[in-house]
Amino acid sequence: MKAVIINGSPKAQDSASELIAAYLQARLAQAADCSVCHAARYSRDEIMRAFTGCNALIFVFPLYVDGIPSHLLRLLDEIQNSVADVASGAAVYCVVNNGFYEAHQNAVALELMGNFCVRSGLRWGQGLGVGAGGMIAAAPIGRGPLKNLGKALDALAENIRNNKTADNLFVKPNFPKFLYNAAAHMSFRAQARKYGLKTKQLYDKPRQ
Ligand SMILES: Cc1cc2nc3c(=O)[nH]c(=O)nc-3n(C[C@H](O)[C@H](O)[C@H](O)COP(=O)(O)O)c2cc1C
Repeated sequence: MKAVIINGSPKAQDSASELIAAYLQARLAQAADCSVCHAARYSRDEIMRAFTGCNALIFVFPLYVDGIPSHLLRLLDEIQNSVADVASGAAVYCVVNNGFYEAHQNAVALELMGNFCVRSGLRWGQGLGVGAGGMIAAAPIGRGPLKNLGKALDALAENIRNNKTADNLFVKPNFPKFLYNAAAHMSFRAQARKYGLKTKQLYDKPRQ
């Protein structure tokens, strides 16, 4: 089988999407010819070449304003009329991660990806919504706070390998919300200091 993972984070490196894509690629490596393409670095034609002959197209991206990052949205728009010609019968799988704790925030983005499938004539495989994306670099996937994420990605990889369709899953982090929020606030303050701002300036109202 042939699968391509599209990393839809605009970050050049160290993104949560990159870590998720690498985990999935490792899980699929034995059963599939599986490569990863960074949507921000590849042209439409390069992506279409990568998709040629695929059984599974896997999109891994961050939630931006409850939706799809604009460069990925543009790519989907550019390929929607022709992707089924090069990857006929392929199933689409998606993993969307977001900054807030609640994984259900990603439900609308998964629905948007479902609409892309309808429009392009591809088959919807399964979607995963992953909350607390800021923690994904904090531990190896499958361990400690990322135990549930590992289980969900393993189940997704199994469905991809078997060309199966399944209900969307929303992954609950293995740590409490108050700790995640406290860690996020510490990180925001540290970033503010790095750029010469005081914590209190983070609460300033924008100038009119
Ligand atoms: C422009 C922008 C918009 C965002 N919008 C949302 C949002 O609507 N909801 C949310 O929970 N997180 C939002 N985030 C946070 C990202 O989804 C989060 O940081 C994610 O873990 C980044 O994933 P990545 O490292 O794979 O790029 C946004 C981040 C940016 C930069």
